[in-house]
Amino acid sequence: MTATVPPTLVGQGFDRIDGRAKVTGAARYTAEVALPALAHAVIVGARTGAGSVRSIDTRAALAAGAVAVFTHENMPKVARVPTFPSAYGRAAPGQTFFPMQDNTIHYFGQPIAVVVADTFEVAQHAAELIEADYDHAPAVVRLDDGRAEKYVPDSVFCGLIPATQSRGDFAAAERTAAHTFDATYHFAANHHNPIECSATAAVWDGDTVTVYDATQGITASQLTIAAYLDISPANVRVIANFVGGGFGGKAMIWPHVTLAPIIARELGRAVKVVLTREQMFYGTGLREEQEQRITLACDDDGTLTGMRHHKLSVTSHFDDWAELSLDIAGKAYGIPNWDGQYQLIRGNTMTPTFMRGPGEASGMVALECAVDELAEQIGMDPVRLRLRNHATVDPESGDPWTSDGYAECLRTAAERFGWSRRDRAAGPVRDGNWLLGWGMGTAGYPHYLPGQPQRAHARLLADGMLVVQAGTQDFGTGVATTMAQVAGDVLSLPFDHVRIDIGDTRYPNIAAAVGSTGAGILSAAVHTACSDLLAQLISLAIGDPESPLHRRAPEDIEPLGGALRVRTDPAVADDFAEILARNALTDLEAIGSWQPPAPDIPYGKISFGAQFAEVAVDPDLGLIRVRRMVGAFAPGRVLNAKLARSQVLGGLNWGMSQALMEATLCDPRDGRWANSSLLEYPLPVQADAPEVDISFIEVNDPVVNPLGVKGLGELGMVGAAAAIVNAVHHATGRRIREIPIRIEHLI
Ligand code: MOS
Repeated sequence: MTATVPPTLVGQGFDRIDGRAKVTGAARYTAEVALPALAHAVIVGARTGAGSVRSIDTRAALAAGAVAVFTHENMPKVARVPTFPSAYGRAAPGQTFFPMQDNTIHYFGQPIAVVVADTFEVAQHAAELIEADYDHAPAVVRLDDGRAEKYVPDSVFCGLIPATQSRGDFAAAERTAAHTFDATYHFAANHHNPIECSATAAVWDGDTVTVYDATQGITASQLTIAAYLDISPANVRVIANFVGGGFGGKAMIWPHVTLAPIIARELGRAVKVVLTREQMFYGTGLREEQEQRITLACDDDGTLTGMRHHKLSVTSHFDDWAELSLDIAGKAYGIPNWDGQYQLIRGNTMTPTFMRGPGEASGMVALECAVDELAEQIGMDPVRLRLRNHATVDPESGDPWTSDGYAECLRTAAERFGWSRRDRAAGPVRDGNWLLGWGMGTAGYPHYLPGQPQRAHARLLADGMLVVQAGTQDFGTGVATTMAQVAGDVLSLPFDHVRIDIGDTRYPNIAAAVGSTGAGILSAAVHTACSDLLAQLISLAIGDPESPLHRRAPEDIEPLGGALRVRTDPAVADDFAEILARNALTDLEAIGSWQPPAPDIPYGKISFGAQFAEVAVDPDLGLIRVRRMVGAFAPGRVLNAKLARSQVLGGLNWGMSQALMEATLCDPRDGRWANSSLLEYPLPVQADAPEVDISFIEVNDPVVNPLGVKGLGELGMVGAAAAIVNAVHHATGRRIREIPIRIEHLI
């Protein structure tokens, strides 16, 4: 028998295993779930941004065919409102306010009624017939309307992060600096717009509920529903077969997810609730409107000695939330004296939440615009200024990075972009009426470690198929595909001999895929499970007098092409199938449980990258076109070249969209988001997309997880907008500190 050596699967650019189902429409998303006797629930949102419901008339809705209408008067009370992170495991409610428990209104669009009917169309029609009277109060949604009431909380991010932080002595550094620079950058509110609107369906069987949910964390949905309803998580099964994008908007478990099982229990039948596109602007959090003031101090040679970073942002009336914009911005450079503060304004909005590159997609953009401005002020090349100041250790703790790669990213991207040809002296570069400009920025994102073990189930069947199951979900990242690659490599099986089952909490438990953790925790859990399985196979073979491997040392044996072989003599082999058959086993299985390193291991944990952009500006019309972007990223190990590139491609384009397009604007009369539709909330289309060049610098990371995967869901967006804003300055000589840049800023 000749052993064919399968090529290593990890790293190759396999197509998504669910790609065909998605593009042919065979994939069924939550909104399409069909259940016997399914009732359709439609949420009615408040038409005022603050105040209370005085009265609500449901008669017309019921007359029009609604089978039930729930308002604050008859909606069952939730048992408790869990917090995040919470005493209830990983329950992850997006906010600590749950609607329809009383008549108070905190934000426009807040659910005030749920109308249920036999068909979606009747439910929608009946929902329009709900008449509510309000006591109106003034709604504060915009930063400018609440500025006078700003406060410094003790902590932000659900009590996890102190609002005021410092190291060294910034004031002294500022006093003694050769140069200082100070500016404030403003970021508009942004809303997630995944293709799939959020949806949840629930059906009870006795005291157990099955919930279909469009979520980034089926386990988080399970734990959150269980906490609200005060039932055991064992009585909540959550299924998410396909999820059409999340970007952070499906990372937390928003109220509609719990409303579905509550109403299904009340009515004794299956219920499905699907948010409309407009309700996505009132139902799944947002990236808060914010401004960030950055003050930099440096020596004559460009060495940064001090940084002050104060962020002012809008949060809700019930949570002190700010995305963590100070985190990586405060660590990317080796600055000894640092002063950071989160300041908040209470607004009539939902609690803000994670959105792609949460924290860093604003914090690193503000910093990287400021660093560009400082470079110009002191007459130093922006790349050189960054290389001079890159933190070689975590400046907060003095600990080494688990892995770095920043300087290689900068040099690689600069080289591929042609940065050395950037002419700074000869004045504007023109292409017809277009002014051309080049700019760059740094990408950085923290590597988060979950506290709990991460588990997967691996099962080798008698026919040689390997089935791997995990309680995770694929929301477009391709995580199932990478799981098959990791599993196949451990047992040396071809890609198509691995089947992946995910999207069901009956599979072993995995944390929510948030903050770019998915690829790291999944690859680790799958690697652990398959390694356990391999150890069992080896043990069976060497203990079996009939095996050619009998009494061999385990370390001398390796898997290859569906068999175990002696490393030094591959002809001595025992097929997986024969091992199972001789032992009368239909299958062999293992649950792998991977315990992540403790969060306080003495390492700084960041993924770095570098972003470059070329823009063309028409100064007469105020038009900006991004012509090309070049990015280099160091995400540890790349599991799948194609998926990694896709992920980052999306990030770069979103960075462009952040810099030039996306803003949710509030109508101050009632606190309504005035452009809550895809017609009016501008998103890039293919014609806007620049030419993109992406490189990965694979750095060995022996610390974070078995395969050294740091993840790159967020990284590709971070700093991209700064590269564009800086390029606009290079083209026009104008510093615009308002994001997105709009036509009126340029003409
Ligand atoms: Mo990420 S913003 O946690 O999907």
